[in-house]
Amino acid sequence: MSASRLLLYCRAGFEKECAQEITATAAEMGVEGYVKARPDSGFAVFHAHQEDMGAELGKHLEFRRIVFARQMVRVPELLSALPEADRARPIAECARTLGRRFRELWIEMPDTNDGKALASLTRPLAPHLEKALAKSGVALGDAKAGERLHVFFVGGRACYVGIADVANSAPWPMGIPRLRTPSRSTLKLAEAMQVFFDEREREKRFAPGMTAADLGASPGGWTWQLVQRHMIVTAVDNGAIDARLLDSGQVKHRREDGFHFHPAEPVDWMVCDMVESPSRIARLAAQWVARGWCAATIFNLKLPMKKRWEELQRCRALIDGELGGGGYFLRMKQLYHDREEVTAYLARR
Ligand SMILES: C[S@@+](CC[C@H](N)C(=O)[O-])C[C@H]1O[C@@H](n2cnc3c(N)ncnc32)[C@H](O)[C@@H]1O
Repeated sequence: MSASRLLLYCRAGFEKECAQEITATAAEMGVEGYVKARPDSGFAVFHAHQEDMGAELGKHLEFRRIVFARQMVRVPELLSALPEADRARPIAECARTLGRRFRELWIEMPDTNDGKALASLTRPLAPHLEKALAKSGVALGDAKAGERLHVFFVGGRACYVGIADVANSAPWPMGIPRLRTPSRSTLKLAEAMQVFFDEREREKRFAPGMTAADLGASPGGWTWQLVQRHMIVTAVDNGAIDARLLDSGQVKHRREDGFHFHPAEPVDWMVCDMVESPSRIARLAAQWVARGWCAATIFNLKLPMKKRWEELQRCRALIDGELGGGGYFLRMKQLYHDREEVTAYLARR
């Protein structure tokens, strides 16, 4: 079987945006196709009109470029009507046609209530599947293998079996990072740091003594992330900032409008979680970078209920306009901890 389709996991309710994005991105890469996606299913599948082009797309598309997908897996057609008495065997047979050695096996399902209900079925399946794979000559646990095997159940008797490049996919099962931090709001910035940078870059870019401005900082979840990394933060918000952060000696609180505040000295980072229209935030972030007020910025864009993909394109165009059409690096991602939002990273090249 040829893995010529692209299975994309996404936040339930964002299948349409995921479909618009992959169709547009594939077309930019010269691959025409269409998407099958059921509303609220938590995933979408891109079919290229030409199978060989689809397979190539899956190899060359950079996962980090994609905003709305949490995970990207190359798959052949859906395996359906799996026999309830032995689901493992046909899955193993399919896997064998995709490769002989894999870094690991992930058994997954959509991040929806229906998907969660499948866990009682998939959990006991793992040992049977591992046995069936071994019998079919498929090796798991090969640390040198560049690919991971994914089995994504979409119903009790149907699943996609596919492969992902370890270096070009999310490093978490179901594309969901499990982070431990004291408050939910702080998780978005923690996840952004994980998603946008590898460990080495993270240590370099968020190093002790670096400076940041946090616009819309109250009660202080994002500031907390930066303080944890021994950075010096100006927290801008009319609302209160957690006293423990102020006591750290690393945080100055400024009760000001985030749209009017600017730093006396350039800072390493501007982070922004103000609830405002996405275009206003995108313009503000781009101006900070364009004026040299910050070296880089991470900001959250709260999307409207409708035309969310179009709104993102508008934000990209605004940023491009403010920065003179080039010389910058922009990445956007709908993080697991984002709801009706996406998070962006912007810096000068
Ligand atoms: C989602 S909350 C921020 C949560 C924060 N990132 C955290 O992790 O604790 C949004 C904040 O933006 C602030 N805000 C909204 N508009 C603002 C503005 N124009 N200037 C400054 N702060 C603003 C609100 O007061 C609110 O505290």
